Amino acid sequence: MSDDNKPVLKVGVAGLGTVGGGVIKILRDNAALLTQRSGRAMAVTAVSARNRRVDRGFSFDGLTWHDDPVDLAADPNVDVVVELIGGSDGPALLLAQAALKEGKPFVTANKALIARHGEALSALAVEQDAPLRFEAAVAGGIPIIKALSEGLSANTIDRVYAILNGTCNYILSVMEETGAPFEDILADAQKLGYAEADPTFDVDGIDTAHKLAILSSVAFGASLNMDAMFTEGIRHITPHDITFAGELGYKIKLMGVSTLIDDGVMQRVHPCLVSLETAIAHVNGVNNVVVAEGDPIGQTVYQGPGAGEGPTASAVVADLCDVARGATSPILPPPADVPSTYLGMDGHEARYYVRLTVADEPGVMAAITAALRDEDLSIESLIQRSHAAGEPASVLLVTHETNEMKIRRSMERIGGLDVMAAAPVFIRIENL
Ligand code: HSE
Repeated sequence: MSDDNKPVLKVGVAGLGTVGGGVIKILRDNAALLTQRSGRAMAVTAVSARNRRVDRGFSFDGLTWHDDPVDLAADPNVDVVVELIGGSDGPALLLAQAALKEGKPFVTANKALIARHGEALSALAVEQDAPLRFEAAVAGGIPIIKALSEGLSANTIDRVYAILNGTCNYILSVMEETGAPFEDILADAQKLGYAEADPTFDVDGIDTAHKLAILSSVAFGASLNMDAMFTEGIRHITPHDITFAGELGYKIKLMGVSTLIDDGVMQRVHPCLVSLETAIAHVNGVNNVVVAEGDPIGQTVYQGPGAGEGPTASAVVADLCDVARGATSPILPPPADVPSTYLGMDGHEARYYVRLTVADEPGVMAAITAALRDEDLSIESLIQRSHAAGEPASVLLVTHETNEMKIRRSMERIGGLDVMAAAPVFIRIENL
């Protein structure tokens, strides 16, 4: 029920790209529903974007236009600032600081901003008693921040693992369906509005790392420290790897994994082989999934669209509803309750998938297995696939559990053999 005595919540929006347009449309199209749900009417009163002349499919009539987004903070006709500019520094950070210093609620979809400056911004928000909300920063339309910070607040969470980048999940899914190479499919993801302004953030795992850092902070109280995270992307994954992984009973997914350990939290982002028998293996396309394991609840799974206009705008507007209801409590914990410690990957224990591209001639297998034997690496299964006559063959193997230092050393040695036609590829198999 709306409270007619409450004044309209006046919203200023900075950034009118895919998500900004979506937010404005939801606020207009669902106005009655949102008023009913949050008990207060909301309306966009002011906007800012780089170029006023672009046709965005909606009218700016009645809205104040600010050339400088930071001016939204001091606009007396703005009660809450929504930041959809992107980037960890520059105007997004200046606007966050200015809005919170004015004591105005700040809502953002900007994972880079929160991952880099979340602790300082949260301290400012607490000092100013102004809410800082970022549901849209992680996993698009999945309300995972709310689930972890509210729904699971009774639990000790000890592991979170997730597919957090819609672009990479889309690329890997389409590579599997079509056999097309990575570069061709990335262009489609950009057209569909999934990718970051700089898509290297998607494909090199940085976007996933930003989101995982935020999840670790909300789930474990871990300090936000991007330097404490191992990050590897998907550029080196080929359609061959996806096909071979399928034959072995796996899918390849870019995952973020965060685990509570004795000295803090271990966080890593990299492609993984996940068994076809797990639910996560079947989360395809632009979808994201987050699995949170805790005590006493056990395992919980959250799945949904992770990028694009509708899902991201849905999460932004949900935060606005919280602001309209009067939310103030901080979501990020005070800094460094639990340290995020970079432990490197040398000690990482796993089974590994290895693909070697070799000359198809006598003695090759003996040289490979000797290098593995010398690192005390045991082979669980091994396949050789010959291609056309004269073409290099593919040797695929899965190791028994070992550690990454042994894998790296043996790959270095195998990579130096004359018979190698390309650098060795290894992918970690995730035990879920
Ligand atoms: N580029 C991001 C993705 C958008 O592909 O998931 C949502 O954060």
